[in-house]
Amino acid sequence: MNAQLSKEIDKICQSFELDSNRLQQLVDLFIKSAEHGLNQKSSSKSYLPMIPTFVTSIPNGKEKGLLLAADLGGTNFRVCSVKLNGDHTFDLKQSKNPIPVDLMKSTTDELFSYLASKIGTFVKQHHGENFNSDNNDKSNHLKLGFTFSFPVDQTSLNSGTLIRWTKGFNIPDTVGKDVVKVLQYHLDEQKIPVHVAALANDTVGTLLARSYTGENKEGLTSIGCIFGTGTNGAYNEKLENIKKLPTEIYNDLKSKDIDHMVINTEWGSFDNDLELLPVTKYDEEVDKLSVNPGYHMFEKRVSGMFLGEILRNVLVDLHSQGLIFDQYSKTSDLPHRLRTPWLLSSEGMSLFEIDDSTKLIATELELKNMLRLPTTYEERLVIQKLTRSISKRASHLASIPITALIMKIDAFKGHNVEVDVGVDGSVVEFYPGFRTMMRDAIAESQVGSKGERRLHINISKDGSSVGAALCALSSDI
Ligand code: BGC
Repeated sequence: MNAQLSKEIDKICQSFELDSNRLQQLVDLFIKSAEHGLNQKSSSKSYLPMIPTFVTSIPNGKEKGLLLAADLGGTNFRVCSVKLNGDHTFDLKQSKNPIPVDLMKSTTDELFSYLASKIGTFVKQHHGENFNSDNNDKSNHLKLGFTFSFPVDQTSLNSGTLIRWTKGFNIPDTVGKDVVKVLQYHLDEQKIPVHVAALANDTVGTLLARSYTGENKEGLTSIGCIFGTGTNGAYNEKLENIKKLPTEIYNDLKSKDIDHMVINTEWGSFDNDLELLPVTKYDEEVDKLSVNPGYHMFEKRVSGMFLGEILRNVLVDLHSQGLIFDQYSKTSDLPHRLRTPWLLSSEGMSLFEIDDSTKLIATELELKNMLRLPTTYEERLVIQKLTRSISKRASHLASIPITALIMKIDAFKGHNVEVDVGVDGSVVEFYPGFRTMMRDAIAESQVGSKGERRLHINISKDGSSVGAALCALSSDI
């Protein structure tokens, strides 16, 4: 590789490095920020949102019922019916509807009317008998748990107003609206016999689903988390630590012998002030292009939506320095797809990461397919090296909230206690080595290799839907 290019690549890879000292400081900062978030009545950009979810009981696997779940949070809108069999098992029917890109930037009514229509199509197809009933008779309505995976200021189990959009959605007139009311309005308008009984974040769903299925044989499930298009986590907190809960709600729950509530941390917004998170000029570019500049700064270094965009920015920068793709003289000559934000996907990176084909021929094909970008062997070596550095930083950062929450709730307290963490999302499920690299960083953290060995990080498939159904079941509305 030419010496100047090699020097520049080493410099860039170096800027993505995180040593264990910095990781430990970030863990401490996370704990501090979480505590602030639990105390502060109004949420501030500087601290974790730590949103009370009004979920106060964790399933035990005996729950029974037929419920609907609808899941808006990433690239697809999923509608499911979930039959909870009461023995830790469930049957699931589902439809997956890609969300048209223009709807992500349309109006509240356009988006929610589309969501309601997809729920209607699903119910007609799988539960047609409900359509024959009198639509005004609410007792015939199927209960639905709405997984809405964006920051929401939740005011009860079935109401919450949108704080801000993330992950490429940008519909300003939804901010401040109660998303349950809006969805119910559109369902009623379209005469769909469905009642929205609960609102749940996908991480809350993941936590509940894992507790229902009882797959957590190795220990109590402490955290539900998502590493997919976005990232976030939820855990069960002692009521007295949630200082921002209004006194009347706190007293009411206490009088019912309730002593815990699930908290949606919204950890995507960890360290928005960039006190300790690593910052490269590529991170700054990605933030500028996002729908929520200055927010969700942790997510923008960790989750699937952003990893490819970081790499794309590095490549365009290297080209502008005359170090790669020299058949194109100016940036405006580069293939259109390489110049277009968000088109370099983390799925593509997962292939570059482990490509061991001769001359990286698999990478060559993927780059032609995805970006119409012809490459030399040397350029592909560069791309692989950069990919590995970006994913290593992401997975090491991903270990921080897990370690911090485990420490905060003292999850290892007791004799030889083991702890279960339920995870879901495309990155943690499909990105090669992501979970292993995350564990490497946990071993280097304050909990050390002993803690890492006692921690089980397992995929909770369909967790968010099953969890939303469990929330709807527990709702008495
Ligand atoms: C949202 C969270 C969500 C996470 C994973 C983030 O962008 O703010 O509410 O849980 O993505 O889907």
